Amino acid sequence: MCGIVGYTGPREAYPIIIKGLKRLEYRGYDSTGVALQNGGLKVYKKKGKVAELEDAIVGKDLHAHVGIGHTRWATHGEPSDRNAHPHQSASGKLAMIHNGIIENYNQLKQELINKGYTFHSDTDTEVLLNFIEEIRNNNQCDLEEAVRVALKRVTGAYVILLLDEDKPDTIIAARKGSPLVIGVGKGEHFLGSDASPMLEYTKEVVYVNDYELAIITPDQLILKNLGNEKITPYVQKLDLELAAIEKGGYDHFMLKEIFEQPQTIYDCLRGRLDAEAGTITMSGIQQYAEQIMNANRIVMIACGTSWHAGLVAEYIFEELCRINVEVEYASEFRYRNPVISKGDVIIAISQSGETADTLVAIENAKSKGAIILGVVNVVGSSIARTSHAGAYTHAGPEIGVASTKAFTAQLAVLTMIALKIGYIKGSISQDRYMHLLKELNEVPEKVAWTLKHSDNIKKLAEKYKDAHDFLYLGRGYNFPVALEGALKLKEISYIHAEGYPAAEMKHGPIALVDENLPVVFVATKDTYHEKVVSNMQEIKARKGKVISVITEGDELSASLSNDVMIVPEADEIVAPMLSVVPLQLLAYYIGVAKQLDVDKPRNLAKSVTVE
Ligand code: F6R
Repeated sequence: MCGIVGYTGPREAYPIIIKGLKRLEYRGYDSTGVALQNGGLKVYKKKGKVAELEDAIVGKDLHAHVGIGHTRWATHGEPSDRNAHPHQSASGKLAMIHNGIIENYNQLKQELINKGYTFHSDTDTEVLLNFIEEIRNNNQCDLEEAVRVALKRVTGAYVILLLDEDKPDTIIAARKGSPLVIGVGKGEHFLGSDASPMLEYTKEVVYVNDYELAIITPDQLILKNLGNEKITPYVQKLDLELAAIEKGGYDHFMLKEIFEQPQTIYDCLRGRLDAEAGTITMSGIQQYAEQIMNANRIVMIACGTSWHAGLVAEYIFEELCRINVEVEYASEFRYRNPVISKGDVIIAISQSGETADTLVAIENAKSKGAIILGVVNVVGSSIARTSHAGAYTHAGPEIGVASTKAFTAQLAVLTMIALKIGYIKGSISQDRYMHLLKELNEVPEKVAWTLKHSDNIKKLAEKYKDAHDFLYLGRGYNFPVALEGALKLKEISYIHAEGYPAAEMKHGPIALVDENLPVVFVATKDTYHEKVVSNMQEIKARKGKVISVITEGDELSASLSNDVMIVPEADEIVAPMLSVVPLQLLAYYIGVAKQLDVDKPRNLAKSVTVE
């Protein structure tokens, strides 16, 4: 949450920063600001999205070769001009942007107030900045040393970028818990929360680690730990093209990402799954296969949509591997005192690889001896780096705030892991194994088919867009899909929606059913199908509006439904990768019909780096 950008070099900094901030808006869009070294520090900031700041400062002298920029997801203090970053220190000589939360800011603030400081915002960032300046003045040290001393007193998470009016070519950066990438160019450096702001300028990047501090000038990148020891920057080559982070003719990133799924699932399977030869090649998993097979239990840890992928995987692992699986919300797991034994296997699932709760939960489990496997999309992200092993989902950059293609890629990876382990363990027959490899291999094609047959969903969106509530129901593998469908609708259309196991409906939610309530059944043909059909009848009898995701040719379910969305026939193990697609589209089109900003829904941010 919060996006940060920085530049120092011979180019004009402002356009680089603004373009970079637009790419990082998925991380928050409550306010935007830039600080430029332009014969002194010039700070421009404003509540709202990047485009609003741009409009507000047309005509200003924005010439500078060094600058920093911020797009905010508010934590401390409401979204407003005064709480927007960058903040300036009491002397006006320092400007700082921050992504994260300073947990002990109240205590630091009190100390500073006692020394006569006054504050112009409600943010923890302004407190940290003045704390740094106070140390610099008090200890008569340089800024770098003051930052080091201050950060040793700070609890919480941060990436900070600092400009000093007296050192106009230098940016000081530090990180703990929030992501920071430095792009290394020829005589120039770029900084970003991810690599997207620097893509067209350089492919050489350094991922800064926790407790590291960087002093960056056009020609030099000096990396140190908080003990002032130099660290050699590890320069990596980015494997990411500009086209991957652009809309490519679609109205929204969300739609583009939904339509990319045949390709992203294919990319995820490619080089791993050989349905003919009957092999799944996943070196990270192979390395820990023995431990996974013999684990007493597997704990899946994740948040949001990734947690839903974990729920589907629970069913799949228990079925194919006969291993006890628990699925935990990272935010609950990290604050409980969970019983973790040496040799327990944790599977951490995360698109961004930066979700704070997931990261801390797995670090806790790791310290107790658990094996951590990461199922992560963003290459080089914190969760990927802290895991013992794992498998990338290879879905490419997901920019729409609502997760879509990451979910199906997570399911593809998790299914491959379960198949591989089940096969090695012998808990799955050769025939079933070969059948499921074939089924998995056909998923990209079947998702493409589903997308081609989705024309009617736009009309359904128009028909149901004014509903106040939705219920989503499913059983077995499709129960987590119902949860995911409800989450998508809530996020994108702001319509209240709940997901339930279809059978649980009778234990309460059925009281909600009347002629105004659309009830979405995820009712593809599987082991539970007859039971789901009975549940449909129960809703119909109470005049609820039944909208169903059904398997092509399922006349009975179609006859019980007011409206249907169809998917092709598939084994129940892979069916969630198909049945979720119409639900993603339904949420998308309802959001569009309500004229909402589907790529940037209110109050949300994509990468939740605060707890
Ligand atoms: C929903 C959504 C969120 C994320 C959650 C976890 O559309 O995007 O619920 O799934 O914040 O994020 P990651 O997967 O990055 O850990």
